[in-house]
Amino acid sequence: MYCHQAIENKLGTFILSKSQIANLAECFRKSMLNRLNGSESSLKMLPAFLDKPTGEERGRYIAVDFGGSKIRLLIVHLKGHREYEITKEHTFLLKDPHNRYNFTTASTTGSELFAFIVSQIADFIDDNSIYPLGHTFSFPTLQRSSNDAILIKWTKEIKTSGVEGLNVTDIFKTALLERKYHQIIPKVIINDTTGTLLTSSYNDPNTDLGSICGTGHNTCYFESDYAAFTNSKIINIESGNFNELPYTEYDNILDINSDMPGEQRLEKMVGGKYIGELFRIIVESFMKGKLLFKNCQLDAFSEPYLISSQQVSIILEDISSDLNSIKMWLMSMGIDSLLEDRLALRLISSRTAMRAGQLVAATYIGILTHIDPGLLNQHIIAIDGSVYEHLALFADTLRSTLNCVLGNKAKLVSLKLTKDGSGIGAAIGAAMNT
Ligand code: GLC
Repeated sequence: MYCHQAIENKLGTFILSKSQIANLAECFRKSMLNRLNGSESSLKMLPAFLDKPTGEERGRYIAVDFGGSKIRLLIVHLKGHREYEITKEHTFLLKDPHNRYNFTTASTTGSELFAFIVSQIADFIDDNSIYPLGHTFSFPTLQRSSNDAILIKWTKEIKTSGVEGLNVTDIFKTALLERKYHQIIPKVIINDTTGTLLTSSYNDPNTDLGSICGTGHNTCYFESDYAAFTNSKIINIESGNFNELPYTEYDNILDINSDMPGEQRLEKMVGGKYIGELFRIIVESFMKGKLLFKNCQLDAFSEPYLISSQQVSIILEDISSDLNSIKMWLMSMGIDSLLEDRLALRLISSRTAMRAGQLVAATYIGILTHIDPGLLNQHIIAIDGSVYEHLALFADTLRSTLNCVLGNKAKLVSLKLTKDGSGIGAAIGAAMNT
């Protein structure tokens, strides 16, 4: 059999049918309901204790956007009339590329980590004014109010000790006090999905879902019914942990070898951290099965996390007849390829990116059906993140999947790129609490 066909066959299970997507959406909706009713579910459904902004919140706020090893500081000016402006920003890393410091490993403590963040804030602020602070903390947290949050578990690449199970706002406040930094006053702590939802609804009140499709993946939404959550309209689903999915053998290899086997299963199929790794695992397995690069050493693709999601995107964007940029990339890795090999790499990339779009669409359909069973109203889904913005085929597949499954009703659903939503939303949340 021609190799390409054998590869097509192996990748067959990657593209889901309309009925599979509809079933997944229903399964996701039921998992939401299970947790809302107090039963077991892979979805955490965490209340954020925040309501809809009015669009008239005003003032100047500092936002700390902590969602991984890169932290952003912003000064956000909320002007009312649904307008805002970022007047200053600074990005810094928790892990020095030259290995002089690393606050992300288990050998550092939460107190050291937050002392470092406070030192960066001190350098960032150049006046003595009072700044209410909004803190975006994009990890699963248990909240008793919108200004305190207990870290349930680190996700993504952070492993700092002395934070899991503790109140993150307290650790942050202590670090500010130790530095005698009384002018910075923490007012709110939110998830990045909540930030995205707040930012988009500050601008347009029809927004009812906020989602991150970046290194990690998660969605939150405005809940209107559930009694247990009456103090919180916004519910952080932690949808990256959804685990009733059609896994392939490659997903299982990725999961078993990951830091947290069995957890964040949806995130491992759609998150920017994993798309490249999934591609690598498939390529490696096809090489072992002699379906690809027959003349090349078997270990060329053996290093875990060698391939980034950006590289997958570059492969997808090569539309030249002989796939020249893919050829050059492979040559830089010492691999001499045939056109047939390069076509196969494009196929693997496109299947991986498209499946990610389909899976995320299924979760959005599940949430929309929960909040509006007959799908009678307009809905805006605010989305931020590198996968949505840059991974070729992802956003298009997301849209086309909504169209395919929802039919005529799909025109009621808009997808809105909400850049910087996670940070700006922290300022809006701080204003709502001030
Ligand atoms: C991970 C985190 C979640 C966050 C998402 C996107 O899934 O657990 O809280 O929203 O990444 O950054």
